[in-house]
Amino acid sequence: MSQIQTLINSHKEDWALDQEYYKNPEIFTIERERIFFDSWIFIGHESQINKKGDFFIYELLNEEIIIVRGKDMKIRAFFNVCRHRGSRICLEDKGNIKRLTCPYHAWSYNLEGNLQGAKSLPKDIEKQSLSLHKCGLEVIGGMLFVNLSDNPESLDNLKRDLEEPFALFGFENLKIAAHKNYPIEANWKLAVENYQECYHCAPSHPEYSLSHTLKIEGEPGFNKAQERMMSNLEACGLKDIEINKDFNRKDPDQEQYAYSRYALFEGYLTGSKNGKPVAPLIGKISEYNQGCSDFNLGPVSFFLAYCDYIVGYVFTPTSQENCQCDVYWMVNEEAEEGKDYDKEKLTWLWDVTTYADEEIIINNQKGVNSIKYQPGPYTDKERSTRRFIKWYLDELQNAIS
Ligand code: FES
Ligand SMILES: [Fe+2]
Repeated sequence: MSQIQTLINSHKEDWALDQEYYKNPEIFTIERERIFFDSWIFIGHESQINKKGDFFIYELLNEEIIIVRGKDMKIRAFFNVCRHRGSRICLEDKGNIKRLTCPYHAWSYNLEGNLQGAKSLPKDIEKQSLSLHKCGLEVIGGMLFVNLSDNPESLDNLKRDLEEPFALFGFENLKIAAHKNYPIEANWKLAVENYQECYHCAPSHPEYSLSHTLKIEGEPGFNKAQERMMSNLEACGLKDIEINKDFNRKDPDQEQYAYSRYALFEGYLTGSKNGKPVAPLIGKISEYNQGCSDFNLGPVSFFLAYCDYIVGYVFTPTSQENCQCDVYWMVNEEAEEGKDYDKEKLTWLWDVTTYADEEIIINNQKGVNSIKYQPGPYTDKERSTRRFIKWYLDELQNAIS
């Protein structure tokens, strides 16, 4: 029996993972292929590349993907690898281009990825056979997702079931007002485990806990606030929708997703320091409803939607021991900085919260590295983390079977 199989067999259900899961290089190789190179990952919004020829580079582990808007206004994704001898083609991380020209021997490709110019190419070799390698890309409600697999999971069910929530929040008419990358010296799973539970919210996030009721989930106050939030939901232009298709409730061949909504405490209209709006209303929302909506899209992309802005969270590894959290703040595309929103006020809550999480996660990793570390039991307040771990172990099991 393989070492990994023995490890999986010895896992105690609903208990944390053994140290080995965070440091065995074979496990990391499986995670890379199976999870990160075969899942849909949020990478930005189409408004970042509005004009023909606008592009940016998305990096995941050692792979680089060119995201470019073509002459036909369609957005495409290609691996940043020349079909001649493999050089990187785009060396800038964003900009505007007419064609993609390799800096090594000047082979050039059009924005559709087709090889156009290759000096002295032998006559018997057809240029059409040397197009850039395509990468899976989907634009869903203006949001850009990539999947590096040649045979990615379908997004059909996700698109169908989330069409209404996406429209309610007007995802298509958003723009990225701010984006910040937080490097975290910890294995990526510790970051996702942390994001999936609010057991740590009360002790670690005083700012978030003042306004968000999730930290008291299961207590009487939570249901009361939930009822208050629901009572004017429709009057505000929203709808009561709940979808659970993430982690262990996954449909075969379909990417996972979920949607739910929870209340903010009295006096808070949005996720801000004083509870007051920080940007104009988004989507079809006509009035402030005191709540926020969680979207889980794929295994590592999460969104929290308020009535005036949406914050997107993406967790990806940069190595086995390091990961990063990309946070995106999105507002209505018409909103003007300085006039309709103040970047500092908009980003304050999730910036302080992410820094606090970063610290917790790093400390978690340090303890997990200890010779005395032993996995402990998850509590009822860590249900989503439990589901994440179950899903993760299934992925690992399927990969080695
Ligand atoms: S490697 Fe790109 S042109 Fe030679
Ligand atoms: Fe947190």
